[in-house]
Amino acid sequence: MPLVIAIDGPAASGKGTLAKRLATHYGLPHLDTGLLYRAVAFALIQSGLSLEDRAAAARAAETLDAGSLTDTRLRDRAMGEAASQISAVPEVRAALLAWQRRFAADPAGAVLDGRDIGTVVCPAASVKLFITASSLERARRRHRELAGRGEAASLEGILADIEARDARDSSRSAAPLRMADDAVRLDTTELDAAAAFDEARAIIERARATIG
Ligand code: CDP
Ligand code: CDP
Repeated sequence: MPLVIAIDGPAASGKGTLAKRLATHYGLPHLDTGLLYRAVAFALIQSGLSLEDRAAAARAAETLDAGSLTDTRLRDRAMGEAASQISAVPEVRAALLAWQRRFAADPAGAVLDGRDIGTVVCPAASVKLFITASSLERARRRHRELAGRGEAASLEGILADIEARDARDSSRSAAPLRMADDAVRLDTTELDAAAAFDEARAIIERARATIG
């Protein structure tokens, strides 16, 4: 049976770091699905189009080029906000859903991280993890990360951004951020990346022992 690991959680909870480590450990392909939404927003901005132009956003999602996902500018702070705006458009989500499902259908299995992997993209995943951390800890992490990339920002500003984005992602009607009923919650507020990985691996091994 292919091992499909679904990882969801709010901004800077550590889901991407964990997904990467798990993918390496289990020898599986990894998709950071947030990058798809960031790339759609980036394509719109680059073309001089408004993020509120829903038809243009849908077209950008339908014609998304996999090659564009490696652009480091997708990681900019502003792109997280822009991605959150266009991700509420149902047609954008529908276009990216097919993409993500194809990725998850790899015969070996896959690790995907995002907001709706356990609830919408891979409802039959072998294991579902919902990663959380306090908003202050998440803001501290993002602050350190941005400082490392030379993007200066105040901790207060980042905290406000994170809380606004959580609220928007959780309250939208199309595939809101929500823990799947059969997901396991992992709070990483007090865990570094290595400790979170150990906990996640233990959860996955228990699940594998059950599903055989
Ligand atoms: O890394 P961070 O958690 O800050 O953001 P991200 O995972 O790159 O996602 C950026 C935005 O894309 C999120 O705020 C969501 O609005 C959207 N997104 C989504 O709607 N569904 C996903 N599966 C992944 C991201
Ligand atoms: O993907 P997501 O936005 O949920 O978060 P991430 O990109 O995995 O992690 C955000 C930042 O927090 C990165 O710089 C990680 O190295 C760091 N991190 C941490 O300090 N402690 C953890 N348990 C996980 C991640």
